[in-house]
Amino acid sequence: MPRKFEIAVLPGDGVGPEVIREALRALEASRELTDLKLETTTYSAGAKYWLGKGRRRHEWDEETFERCSKADAILLGPIGLPDVVREDGRPVGSDVVFGLRMGLDLYANVRPVKLMNGVKSPLAMKGSGDIDFAIIRENTEGLYSGIQGILSRGGEDEAGVDVRLITRKGAERIISYAFRLSMRRKGAPIDRKRRVTCVDKSNVLAGCRLFRSIYNDLARRFPRIEKDYAYVDAMCQWLIRRPEKYDVIVTTNLFGDILSEIGAALQGGLGLAPSANIGEKHGMFEPVHGSAPQYAGKNVANPTAAILSVKMMLEWLSGKSTDKQLDVAARLIERAVVQSLEKGEGLTHDLGGKASTRQAGQAVVRNMRLLAQKED
Ligand SMILES: NC(=O)c1ccc[n+]([C@@H]2O[C@H](COP(=O)([O-])OP(=O)(O)OC[C@H]3O[C@@H](n4cnc5c(N)ncnc54)[C@H](O)[C@@H]3O)[C@@H](O)[C@H]2O)c1
Repeated sequence: MPRKFEIAVLPGDGVGPEVIREALRALEASRELTDLKLETTTYSAGAKYWLGKGRRRHEWDEETFERCSKADAILLGPIGLPDVVREDGRPVGSDVVFGLRMGLDLYANVRPVKLMNGVKSPLAMKGSGDIDFAIIRENTEGLYSGIQGILSRGGEDEAGVDVRLITRKGAERIISYAFRLSMRRKGAPIDRKRRVTCVDKSNVLAGCRLFRSIYNDLARRFPRIEKDYAYVDAMCQWLIRRPEKYDVIVTTNLFGDILSEIGAALQGGLGLAPSANIGEKHGMFEPVHGSAPQYAGKNVANPTAAILSVKMMLEWLSGKSTDKQLDVAARLIERAVVQSLEKGEGLTHDLGGKASTRQAGQAVVRNMRLLAQKED
């Protein structure tokens, strides 16, 4: 008998609770429609928690990390609010976000960029078949290694330092992840060729030269995948000029962070961009967007990125389990999202529509039920 999956949910700040609520409704519908065994437990964390009861000055309860590490998967909302900062100027939120990414060694940040039917591309002449690639961003080192400090306080000599760490182990596992992902995909839209593009700045940076040499070594093991290279500055314009060329893009932490914002714009906006943080044992799933505080509590934020993050979570769980219903549930959510967008029911204001967060979520659940009925 398939076992029950335990999901830890951290709705986060700003629009987080609103979009995660709709994502959980889609998850609940998938549980009902496919007989999946799932249980969710919600934990409070982030800026609101920090400011909460007696101004706690902690981002989360001491036990929450432990609980997350024992769950089968984690669903994370956006963490942090712009005006909630520590005395040293660091924004509140990094304990949770980096605590989970580093603490659970979630080395692969996976950001699919797909222009769906029903969504207008910001690029003239690009349609839904033209943009479908994945950015694989190293998630535990690079410029976000956490090796940092202020060298001298005050005066003209003050200097801030952030060490960009690129290790052989870190590069090998992320690049290998990218090649293995490309093998499971259908290739780039332009020519259906499997292609892994190594994005770096190896003309200037030593860490990038190591990254590229490891890419070249690993590429020999995947002769059916085309090798491809770009410097990160050039890549910013290639993504806009020729997005259809790309299948899988692999890069270091900060470069991946920046490129995936371009990716989100290409697929119609941050409200549509889901992501996964994957390690050997753990998986955490979150919308790419932040807490968008100007929309918080207004029922206007787009819940699609959060809903598609749940779809990614079900897909990842299916790779670790024999329960076929996980894949069925993931496909049901994806198809229902596309239908809601095509029919206009899921178009929130950021997509030029009038649907509220709640209505967009309801549309997905309604379409899931209709699709499931048709298949019966
Ligand atoms: N991983 C995370 O938890 C994470 C990521 C990014 C930002 N943040 C935090 O979020 C806060 C706000 O950051 P920001 O303004 O730079 O980025 P943001 O992603 O919150 O918002 C940028 C813009 O994107 C649009 N947007 C974002 N999400 C949307 C949605 N669901 N529906 C419709 N439109 C949406 C809005 O126009 C918004 O102004 C900051 O405190 C930041 O630190 C957290």
